[in-house]
Amino acid sequence: MPLLEDTVGVEDLVLLEPLEEKSLLENLQLRYENKEIYTYIGNVIISVNPYQQLPIYGPEFIAKYQNYTFYELKPHIYALANMAYQSLRDQDRDQCIVITGESGSGKTEASKLVMSYVAAVCGKGEQVNLVKEQLLQSNPVLEAFGNAKTIRNNNSSRFGKYMDIEFDFKGAPLGGVITNYLLEKSRVVKQLQGERNFHIFYQLLAGADAQLLKALKLEQDISCYTYLNPEVSRIGGMDDASNFRAVQRAMTVIGFSEEEIRQVLEVTALVLKLGNVEMTDEFQANGIPASGIRNGKGIQEIGEMVGLNSEELERALCSRTMETAKEKVVTVLNVIQAQYARDALAKNIYNRLFNWIVNRINESIKVGTGEKKKVMGVLDIYGFEILEDNSFEQFVINYCNEKLQQVFIELTLKEEQEEYKREGIAWTKVDYFDNGIICNLIEHNQRGILAMLDEECLRPGVVSDSTFLAKLNQLFSKHSHYESKVTQNAQRQYDHTMGLSCFRICHYAGKVTYNVAGFIDKNNDLLFRDLSQVMWKARHPLLHSLFPEGNPKEASLKRPPTAGAQFKSSVAILMKNLYSKNPNYIRCIKPNENQQRGQFSSELVVVQTRYLGLLENVRVRRAGYAFRQGYKPFLERYRLLSPCTWPYWNGGDREGVEKVLGELSISSEELAYGKTKLFIKSPKTLFYLEEKRHLRLQQLAILIQKVYRGWRCRTHYQLMRKSQILISAWFRGNKQKKHYGKMKASALRIQAFVRGWKARKNYRKYFRSGATLTLANFIYRSIVSTWFLSLFPSSTFPSSTMILTPVLCSSQCKKFRDQLSPKQVQTLKEKLYASELFKGKKASYPQSVPVPFRGDYVGLQGNPKLQKLQGRDEGPVLMAETVKKVNRGNGKISARILLLTKGHVIITDTKKFQAQTIIGLDSVAEVSVSSLQDGLFSLHLNEITSVGSKGDILLISDHVVELLTKMYQAVLDATQRQLSVTVTEKFSVRFKDKSVAVKVIEGPVGGGKNKLICKKKGSHLEVTVQ
Ligand SMILES: Nc1ncnc2c1ncn2[C@@H]1O[C@H](COP(=O)(O)OP(=O)(O)OP(=O)(O)O)[C@@H](O)[C@H]1O
Ligand SMILES: [Mg+2]
Repeated sequence: MPLLEDTVGVEDLVLLEPLEEKSLLENLQLRYENKEIYTYIGNVIISVNPYQQLPIYGPEFIAKYQNYTFYELKPHIYALANMAYQSLRDQDRDQCIVITGESGSGKTEASKLVMSYVAAVCGKGEQVNLVKEQLLQSNPVLEAFGNAKTIRNNNSSRFGKYMDIEFDFKGAPLGGVITNYLLEKSRVVKQLQGERNFHIFYQLLAGADAQLLKALKLEQDISCYTYLNPEVSRIGGMDDASNFRAVQRAMTVIGFSEEEIRQVLEVTALVLKLGNVEMTDEFQANGIPASGIRNGKGIQEIGEMVGLNSEELERALCSRTMETAKEKVVTVLNVIQAQYARDALAKNIYNRLFNWIVNRINESIKVGTGEKKKVMGVLDIYGFEILEDNSFEQFVINYCNEKLQQVFIELTLKEEQEEYKREGIAWTKVDYFDNGIICNLIEHNQRGILAMLDEECLRPGVVSDSTFLAKLNQLFSKHSHYESKVTQNAQRQYDHTMGLSCFRICHYAGKVTYNVAGFIDKNNDLLFRDLSQVMWKARHPLLHSLFPEGNPKEASLKRPPTAGAQFKSSVAILMKNLYSKNPNYIRCIKPNENQQRGQFSSELVVVQTRYLGLLENVRVRRAGYAFRQGYKPFLERYRLLSPCTWPYWNGGDREGVEKVLGELSISSEELAYGKTKLFIKSPKTLFYLEEKRHLRLQQLAILIQKVYRGWRCRTHYQLMRKSQILISAWFRGNKQKKHYGKMKASALRIQAFVRGWKARKNYRKYFRSGATLTLANFIYRSIVSTWFLSLFPSSTFPSSTMILTPVLCSSQCKKFRDQLSPKQVQTLKEKLYASELFKGKKASYPQSVPVPFRGDYVGLQGNPKLQKLQGRDEGPVLMAETVKKVNRGNGKISARILLLTKGHVIITDTKKFQAQTIIGLDSVAEVSVSSLQDGLFSLHLNEITSVGSKGDILLISDHVVELLTKMYQAVLDATQRQLSVTVTEKFSVRFKDKSVAVKVIEGPVGGGKNKLICKKKGSHLEVTVQ
């Protein structure tokens, strides 16, 4: 049972509500538009041709349908094939699959789908696979020779086909038998506009290589052959050349030998070439019109190819031998008659070739006798045809469909009836149209139309189509399903759709008007004996075998059965066959005339639904009970409707169903309880049940959602809670651990300190402060000298020591330099200059070394006046100190303040701090200083400067080393000149254009105190240092 809530429209028309033509059409259309091409009527499947490849076939879908029963999945041809195959395999019931529908509705495709499904699911193994392959490969061969492009279908089967596939007891295929019905042989010689001849002709010309074409004496150009319609040489989407190769391959797979394939192609070529044999008018000596062959070349080639005497063939085509028991009379044929004979021969050869191919395939796929077989028959037969001009062919086709409808109704009703009987339910009679009366009209042995036709064909005297019609009119004038001009006129009716040469039959599927023209001829289906005899004479083995009646030894004067009689008997055999099997129906519907996807023409479909009897089918199906289902699946589906059966039910299935339905307000007439199934009368009840189920499902879904959500929240909460507890436990633990660690470390440190302190305190009792270090150094040195140095004699490392010492030294110097601030660097630089100038030269130098150079010895900060003096643009004062000036005239000493800036030496008085002398450093030419402890020095000035003109200046400084060093540096910075500092005891100073010789001597007491006594004697100044 399909899930109604998920379906497009209804999947089973039995459930259609309201049941009428309109809703049936709408349902099919809705489904078709949603690409749901399959719909059920019970176990009958309706298939609407999609005209496009839908993604619903192939191994995946086969596997899916294999595992489900019929109603569990969407309607599909695989479901039907599966049901048929399983019933065949498991219940040992022979099956037949009857596929009907009009041309282009998809019968052949459906039959191939069924075959491919069965091939996929039935047994496996090397032998089995070969059989499968042979069965499947029979399709392309039969399609090449029996299919053609028509206006309605590019791949229209022009013959009816019934194929029995035979299986062993395990369900593995053993082989099969193909029966073919009524090939449309007239197509060989003539096609309607827009149609083609049989595919094989085009395939042969397009696919054969040059060698083959040459061997067959064929041209590749289609327009060379009168039997081929050159207008439509190609069909879109069909590749004749590759199909030809596929057909050759398929023939090989089936078991055709190479020789056989060659012969088949030769006979095919022969038919083509026969069409090109042109007839021409000739006259006999007595003036009677006769005929001859226009161009002997063609017939010559035919003769050569099949080993025939071309003259004999020509004779057979242009004349006719009438044979009676006593004599033979030869009559000549006129051109029309000769052409007719030629075409008849071509049609006959092709028809016989087709039959031979079918028989040859059967030979390959036949099953050995004696094996117990199960059979599945697949019938792909032309559907009901109503053309504009209906002839003998339509008549027999429609007769066949009439018979199929009869089987269908009888078997459907029979099956229905049997089911009720099996289930023990009273059978209600179903009103349906029984088409037995129409079948009788056609097939009755003495009074049927076919019998009349045969009678007319065999009757001596003048026979024509019109005498046949007259006979029918007379016989069936009162028949309710027969109409003709005569019967209408008898009822004073006038209908211009019916011609004088027509009769009409009211088939179950609609009224069809047949034109009797050609009925007699087609029914006779005779080939002149001359032709069959000449064909028999051919050395070509295949052609020879096709015309056994041409053997003069076996020639009989007995007429072969007529076409109508042959067809009737083959239909009878088919019916017998079908009645003996379990039928499965596929009703194919063509949605539009244009072979277009997605187009649904309601007008076209309604006609087909009528003659397929779909509505009738549904009515029959619903006559008793519209719906039935086994108790178990029914209970499974609806047990949720009752609290007694949901969620648990321990009782039997039937009791459970009764419980469920007992609680619902369903009238008792609606239900019938069979032995294994529940029957429901109208679809309304089922829909009611479905609706209830739907509601209940919603409730249950909500309940499930509720429970699920609650459960999810609860578990989530519990998980969160657990996690939270875990996290906080870990956090607390961690915090405590850390705290403890800190505490422990602190305690240890305190302990260590205390212990250390205690120990030190203790030790201090025994050692003086600093003793530890001394002791350690002592121990270290003694270890080194005792152990380390003694290891190596002192002479071991002299060179390395020499190398390493300066390295160590410079490294330590660098280390020392790197840590110096710029100010310290400056100070050290000054010290360096000082050492360069005075080291080893001046006695007071060593004392100046450890004393840092301060520069300011007068307190510049607290002396605004000096600051004002200093306010030149020369930056900070380098040196400010109180000095003593020696008067060069008398040797007296007076205090002065000396400021050394970057550019000048300024000398002020000590009270008012006014500049007395300002000497530019560029004016200082030289400095002389004594080597003793004293601070005396002389600034020798350039005479050319204004200040220098007064003479040199003699000063005493307490920081003479610092002052002169700074001056030296200032001069160097200002003038890039190295100030010459001369350390000497004797030097001369200029004074008022004279020179005073200064001599410094050491006093008796000795150095130490920087006290000077200056005595001037003439031009000599003696300075004593005490
Ligand atoms: N199930 C399908 N899926 C896709 N295309 C399909 C299907 N059935 C039929 N067709 C298309 O419709 C065309 C006609 O189908 P098919 O030859 O089976 O018709 P038919 O009923 O056998 O006609 P005829 O009576 O003329 O032989 C196919 O060639 C194919 O293109
Ligand atoms: Mg077909």
